[in-house]
Amino acid sequence: MLAGKVITIGVTGGIAAYKAAWLVSNLAGLEAEVHVMMTRSAKAFVSPLTFQVLSGHPVRTGLFTAGEDAPIPHVEMAARSDLLVIVPATANIIGKVAGGIADDLLSTTIMAATCPVLFCPAMNVNMYRNPVVQRNLAMLRELGYHLAEPEVGRLACGTEGRGRLPEPEIILEQIKDILSRAGDLSGMTVLVTAGPTREPLDPVRYITNRSSGKMGYAVARAASRRGARVILVSGAVGLEPPPGIKLIPVETARQMFDVVMEQFPTVDMVVKSAAVADYRPKEMAVQKIKKNENNLILELEKNPDILFELGRRKGRQLLVGFAAETGDVEENALSKVRHKNLDLLVANDVTLPGAGFGADTNIATLVYPDGTVIPLPKMDKLSLAHRILDEVLTLRRARNIL
Ligand code: C5P
Repeated sequence: MLAGKVITIGVTGGIAAYKAAWLVSNLAGLEAEVHVMMTRSAKAFVSPLTFQVLSGHPVRTGLFTAGEDAPIPHVEMAARSDLLVIVPATANIIGKVAGGIADDLLSTTIMAATCPVLFCPAMNVNMYRNPVVQRNLAMLRELGYHLAEPEVGRLACGTEGRGRLPEPEIILEQIKDILSRAGDLSGMTVLVTAGPTREPLDPVRYITNRSSGKMGYAVARAASRRGARVILVSGAVGLEPPPGIKLIPVETARQMFDVVMEQFPTVDMVVKSAAVADYRPKEMAVQKIKKNENNLILELEKNPDILFELGRRKGRQLLVGFAAETGDVEENALSKVRHKNLDLLVANDVTLPGAGFGADTNIATLVYPDGTVIPLPKMDKLSLAHRILDEVLTLRRARNIL
């Protein structure tokens, strides 16, 4: 699977630089074309000769070094690479990329890259915990870079804590995952709904729910990175839309219904992660409702079930629903996946810590109409998004709709 892939390894100046040698050697052994770039401080830890011998290619170190083989090495390597892996990634390179600085060969190559980039941070625990580093890592995640999360363990400085480079075998698995998913959704259109709906009571008030939109935005980002054309129909959320997607903002369930029905005939799959309000106020007051001595009784009427309607209309499209439950997760999920004619339902118990609204992680169970139930471990929402897309692709392949 790695044979012929062009992988550029960027080595920065941390003690874990020696572990990059194992990775380069193994990637070359799996017949990838491996090129190594080193920052100035990386050369203080490992000799470029080590990487040159292991990769079988000259090591690039400078932006302007005369005599190296390509006249503009950062542009050439950025364009040729299928993947860039920064290993180890120091707080410095993470900060530079998060801040848009490109002042040496490696940072400039990352700036020019259009392929996936995997950062493998490794540093002292206090550096790792520093809010500036955490903010920069969050920025990289948001910008769509991949991260190999550092592990807890004994650090080179003699302390214990998070900041250890994951074992190279784990990084190698992540590289395989990224490359096997790259472009596997190209040619497909994915419709994603995200966030809450708002159901107005009067010109200044509405009924809504706790959905943050993070799960749907993660699905949109993951699908777009894998080459799909993505239409994101989003309720009001405070999130930056992923680059390169078509965003259609909506407010109410009925607006979401109209947009989704209009787009449905043109799409290959729908991932409905929005938390659609089941009811809306029967009347919307034209003027702000005034307070008086009495209690106020609101009459609510039912919203259309968008997903149920899609299930009724669907042809070749694959439908994925979400279900936030507060008990009897499997039982409820199974009856929903069948009732709504879905291909997959992603159920989660929102009462568990680390699952559900607002969290960056989720604990989901995949439920299929044939009764197959796959509980997944706790994972970040982007990883869950990729897992869901993997499942849908497997279903498509099984049905020969490619
Ligand atoms: O039945 P329940 O609301 O739990 O189902 C949740 C799933 O149905 C979600 O995927 C949600 O986006 C979708 N849904 C919908 N229209 C509604 C209510 C829920 O599409 N009115």
